Amino acid sequence: MKLSLRLILFLVAGITIVTFIVSKNEVRSEKRGLRADLVRRAEILSESLQEIVEPALEKGSREQLRHIVERFSNREQLAGVVVYDSHGEVLAESSSLKTKFDAPAVPMEQVAANPDGLSKFINLGSEPMHVYYLPLHDHGAVTGFLAIFHDAEYIETQSSNMWRATLWHVIAEVLLIVLITVLIIRWSIVLPISRTAQWMKDIRRGRVPPGPPEPKESFLAPFTSEVMNLTRSLADARSSAEEEARLRESGESDWTAERLRVSIRGKAEQGSLFVVSNREPFMQVYKGKAVETLVPASGLVTALEPILRACDGMWIASGSGDADRETVDEHDHVRVSPDKPEYTLRRVWLSKEVENGHYYGFSNEGLWPLCHVAHTRPIFRATDWQNYQTANQQFADAVLQEMEGVERPLVLVQDYHFALLPRMIKEARPDARVAIFWHIPWPNPEAFGICPWQRELVSGLLGADLVGFQIQAHCDNFLETVDAALESRIEWERFAVKRGGHTTFVRPFPISVDFRDSQRGPGEAQGSPYVLRSELLKGLGIKAKFLGVGVDRVDYTKGLLERLRGVERFLEKWPAYRETFTFVQIGAPSRTEIPRYHDFMQELEAEAARINARWQTATWKPIALLTRHHSHEEILPYYRAADLCMVTSLHDGMNLVAKEFIAARDDEEGALILSQFTGAARELRDAIIVNPYDVEQLAEAMRVALEMDTEERQARMRLLRNTVKHHNVYGWAGSLITELSEIRIEETQPELGHAL
Ligand code: G6P
Repeated sequence: MKLSLRLILFLVAGITIVTFIVSKNEVRSEKRGLRADLVRRAEILSESLQEIVEPALEKGSREQLRHIVERFSNREQLAGVVVYDSHGEVLAESSSLKTKFDAPAVPMEQVAANPDGLSKFINLGSEPMHVYYLPLHDHGAVTGFLAIFHDAEYIETQSSNMWRATLWHVIAEVLLIVLITVLIIRWSIVLPISRTAQWMKDIRRGRVPPGPPEPKESFLAPFTSEVMNLTRSLADARSSAEEEARLRESGESDWTAERLRVSIRGKAEQGSLFVVSNREPFMQVYKGKAVETLVPASGLVTALEPILRACDGMWIASGSGDADRETVDEHDHVRVSPDKPEYTLRRVWLSKEVENGHYYGFSNEGLWPLCHVAHTRPIFRATDWQNYQTANQQFADAVLQEMEGVERPLVLVQDYHFALLPRMIKEARPDARVAIFWHIPWPNPEAFGICPWQRELVSGLLGADLVGFQIQAHCDNFLETVDAALESRIEWERFAVKRGGHTTFVRPFPISVDFRDSQRGPGEAQGSPYVLRSELLKGLGIKAKFLGVGVDRVDYTKGLLERLRGVERFLEKWPAYRETFTFVQIGAPSRTEIPRYHDFMQELEAEAARINARWQTATWKPIALLTRHHSHEEILPYYRAADLCMVTSLHDGMNLVAKEFIAARDDEEGALILSQFTGAARELRDAIIVNPYDVEQLAEAMRVALEMDTEERQARMRLLRNTVKHHNVYGWAGSLITELSEIRIEETQPELGHAL
């Protein structure tokens, strides 16, 4: 039986039963009320009659009695009155009664038992009647009886009417309910389900991107979100398989997420890989009372998650979301992701004081400006250094605790927040293979030498079996710093440092982005950059023909002021671009608790306002500065719509914005202006390479980018895309892990105790 029919039948049966039970009670109480009313009327009448009949009876005047009886007989519903003598003989009887039936005999015994009056409902012939008997007296002796007959038919009639009304009521209710049920089933169940089914079909056929269906049906939400997860997994699996097949077919050996997974399985056993970073890959924050998950749009997460997933590894990071503590288990673990657990995140809790000294202080006011030669003086405080050591020790303890019982673990430490960690780990676990990847530049020995704790930092790093940098120049700088700071043997021919029986290899591993031939989701249209551009600018209240874009954390190393001044100079020199070219700078606020960053944000805003004030009109301005965090999905349209993208870092380890811009341009359009002081400039030779300190050169580069002929622009972009494609983020992670896993641990026997 169909669901809707079953539902209707149950509803009808339920309503009918309930209505009948309720109606039965109502009819019964109505009937009781009518009967009581009738009895009361009979009592009142009998009392009035008693006063007149008793004297007439005393006199023995039958005539008078008949007269009285007739006089009272014409009342509403009164069928008649009968007067009996003390033996029950009829003395007088209403003619209306006499014509219908003989007066019934008086039930003497019952009346004697009820001297105040006996009330009875009886049937006379086929007629329902009520009779009220009252004994008549003379000086205390019973001289006769009075009987008052009321027609009780109307009570039955009224009950039947009520039942009839109930029946109609039930019929109307049932019809209404059937109608409403059919409509509800149709509109709220059948239609949403068939819409959802159509949406699933469209997704399967690749007609729509795998987003939630429109309109959203809240009762189907858990179902659709599962379908979306499934679709994404299927789409990923399908695109990996296609990519693999394509690579096999073309004989290419590019790294893919799938290849990385397969490769890692051969190198790291289940649970034997540990990644350490300061920023966590999966943060949980409260939104109202609900817990929301934030995954930073970071290249690091893209690169490291596949290798952790491949061997169910562990990522150890600082807990920083306000719901992070509530979501971990008793070991401070949370499985990532909760609906598809594939690796474990271990959160480490630093006290506010340690975090201030470690993260804001020594890491970002000391090491960050020290390593980025960008003319911001590093600040070295002894208390920050103390907290830096404490934080490193706290992380080392966590790593060592998690590694207990794991044979030959692999540890991948990330960045300048943890220079001391490799040695701390290696001293306790010489069997572990430890690598640290330094994402930021390493300056020359003279520059690094101003750090009061350079020996401790370098020594800490040399605890690792492998130290990775973005480019060869940083490796060279590091080896020269080691040479200048410590007693050790540098083996330049194999880029290694031998110290106290332990060898550390130093290698460049240029980090990259996830590159796919098309980054568009299924169903996402190619779309014209011109249309996209005018839509984006319209959203900002600007009309312009040309669009430039920059995407950065608001950081003094990114050359943002120089970039804006470059835009100003460009408009000064080529006035034709005024009112036709706009530069959109997306600037994510970063490390704002540090005064230098806080002040820099204000400087940047003031500079943009100053330049805008020179030329802006009601519908146009030279610079749109968007200072909030934008997700990767929000940034992508800007990359795709831009005529040019500017990366003007004063110093940068690699700079992934340059590579993200290239990866986004599957239309092979757009020009990249790239600072010569980025690691990326070593690889991306077909960008327009600039010195960001040279404002004339920046302005000229912008003109060249906008006026370059299409063929050349496309040829350059094609070459740039080939570079990023062949050197993608999976290649970075794959080479790092391969190199680390191939290191012969026997060669690196530690005499690490006397490090300095
Ligand atoms: C650079 C560093 C990363 C850091 C990122 C964001 O890329 O190399 O280690 O995570 O900046 O900075 P934040 O201080 O917000 O983590």
